[in-house]
Amino acid sequence: MDETKEIESTEENDKPPSTSPRPIRAWRVAVIANVKGETVLPIDGPADAGAEFDKKETIQEIQSAIESDGHTTVFIPADANLPYTLAHVRPDICFNISEGIYGDAREAQIPALLELLRIPYTASRVLTNAVSLDKTMTKRIWRDKGLPTAAFQEFVTGNEPLADDLSFPMFVKPASEGTGMGMDGGSIVYDKESLYRRIKWVIENYHQAALVEEYLPGREFTVAVMGRSDAARFSPRPDIYGPDGFHRFPLLEVDSSASVTPGIYGHIAKTLHTGEAGVPQFICPASVEEPLASTLQDLAIKAHNAINALDVSRVDIRLDKNGVPRLMEINTLPGLTRGFSDLCVIAEAENWNYRDIILEILYLGASRFGMVTPSDKTARGIPVQIPEFVPVFQNQRHSR
Ligand SMILES: Nc1ncnc2c1ncn2[C@@H]1O[C@H](COP(=O)(O)OP(=O)(O)OP(=O)(O)O)[C@@H](O)[C@H]1O
Ligand SMILES: [Mg+2]
Repeated sequence: MDETKEIESTEENDKPPSTSPRPIRAWRVAVIANVKGETVLPIDGPADAGAEFDKKETIQEIQSAIESDGHTTVFIPADANLPYTLAHVRPDICFNISEGIYGDAREAQIPALLELLRIPYTASRVLTNAVSLDKTMTKRIWRDKGLPTAAFQEFVTGNEPLADDLSFPMFVKPASEGTGMGMDGGSIVYDKESLYRRIKWVIENYHQAALVEEYLPGREFTVAVMGRSDAARFSPRPDIYGPDGFHRFPLLEVDSSASVTPGIYGHIAKTLHTGEAGVPQFICPASVEEPLASTLQDLAIKAHNAINALDVSRVDIRLDKNGVPRLMEINTLPGLTRGFSDLCVIAEAENWNYRDIILEILYLGASRFGMVTPSDKTARGIPVQIPEFVPVFQNQRHSR
């Protein structure tokens, strides 16, 4: 808790610098995250456990960006003390980037707690964060909605017979990890024996199901998604949104052909910084012809909407052997490390500064809880409000 800042009192008539649209008043914003080296990990975890956690500097940068718009902030670690800390801090809204520590839906645990306490928070809600953590469930939904994704099979025990519709080479990964955890050159398998060996390695080391997919040999893209049908009404930058309410960022291509894990954007490759040996080549804006470029953008938005993701996400797509884009996975809590995380690199390629990214996520989130006065009441879009939400702490404070 040494990073908890002293909370300044926020009076009802505090005036933040004018932005359009405007927050109804200055907010007390809690940034909730798991910090590398500070969050206690399960003792039986794999070697790359905690890889998704954030650095202290990232949290401080998020706090600075939010404070630059006139709000006060406090950092709260996403651990078992959270309910007590929240009761003490009583934030107006939480900027949630928590990965969670335990359980099959760990990225949904903090949103679930916040909904229980009826505290507003940013980005996707409970069910979406639970589904997106589970790549198999996500692919089932996409397949059900007719969206293209590689043929796949989930292995829970590692003894299941191989489905007839899968052909080699295949790719084996933990079903519920991120940051390339459990993925390296050994993930690509060419025969049954190495397939089952790798499946068992995943199940034993990651204590979860193994997802087996057909290997996608083509170009790899990661597509940033931002917006929702009524985003322009509440965004500090309404002009960036298209008629469907989504912003089309430039595409980022990840070329892993000469990386430390050739052909795979795996865990080690994800820890390297630009300029270091073995780092993949990141190309943004990627050189992509039409109609592929629009197909990738639209596919990412469809993938985001299919699981009811809100405001922001990042969708990973690869081309199959016929050049057809296939959805790999969606990150509903995309990394936000300035100059490093894919979403930041993409936005920066379009001259967004870090503050723009953070405030966009904050304002889109806050607007769903009635905390932002729309800039133009006549603007397009159906409001995506959460009617059952009555910010409890806010009411208590006002009723005194
Ligand atoms: N079916 C596949 N065929 C080919 N390569 C794949 C396949 N699935 C995953 N990969 C490779 O492994 C990388 C990591 O996979 P994936 O995006 O599913 O993992 P992740 O750890 O959730 O990633 P993130 O860090 O984006 O959360 C991909 O970026 C891609 O390079
Ligand atoms: Mg990925």
